[in-house]
Amino acid sequence: MNFYDRWVLPWLTDLCMRNKEARRYRELMIPLASGRVLEVGFGSGLNLPFYSAGVRHLFALEPSPELRKMAGRRINGTRFTVEFLDRSADEIPLDRASVDTVVTTWTLCTIPDAARALQEMKRVLKPGGVLLFVEHGLAPEPGVQAWQHRLNPLWNRIGGGCNLDRQIADLIVQSGFRFGELKTEYVKGLKPMSFTYSGWASP
Ligand SMILES: C[S@@+](CC[C@H](N)C(=O)[O-])C[C@H]1O[C@@H](n2cnc3c(N)ncnc32)[C@H](O)[C@@H]1O
Repeated sequence: MNFYDRWVLPWLTDLCMRNKEARRYRELMIPLASGRVLEVGFGSGLNLPFYSAGVRHLFALEPSPELRKMAGRRINGTRFTVEFLDRSADEIPLDRASVDTVVTTWTLCTIPDAARALQEMKRVLKPGGVLLFVEHGLAPEPGVQAWQHRLNPLWNRIGGGCNLDRQIADLIVQSGFRFGELKTEYVKGLKPMSFTYSGWASP
């Protein structure tokens, strides 16, 4: 791993993800999680303050040791146990049908095999469990899409593998989920980076 990926990227991730728009989504979506929760791509733990008293145990899956370290500093005072999982989302080390909620925020863009990761999320969810998601991805307009495809190779390199042009809704449905709610909109910012999918889906 090079210097940029090891030291700069985790710091940059924490900084960029602490923005107002992201906070607005966190406030809306994260309180919906309950019971045994798995958060995939826990990052620096920015969702932590928004979990409700309905959470009993949180599995925080995060492959980056630096981000896990930053997240560790945010755990003090949580009312539930946080258990770190040092793994990639394409092999979730949890039993089938063992969690009530899976949370993913701005992570499906980066996981190399997002379809496989979603199948893993589906495997670990209990029947009737819920996937909560907030993700950026492919925009509907061909003009914006063209820019997303054009910028993607460079963006991918500076963003630690982040992709601008994944069709998040298709990925979720093709992995065997059904939407309970799906909202799409541009948030504040440049159009190629800001088309956002949010909502919940069930296996
Ligand atoms: C843009 S950050 C989002 C962090 C956090 N979810 C948030 O809302 O602030 C993307 C996250 O995906 C994680 N990630 C990258 N590859 C992954 C993989 N294969 N499995 C799980 N998480 C991964 C990164 O380490 C990083 O924490």
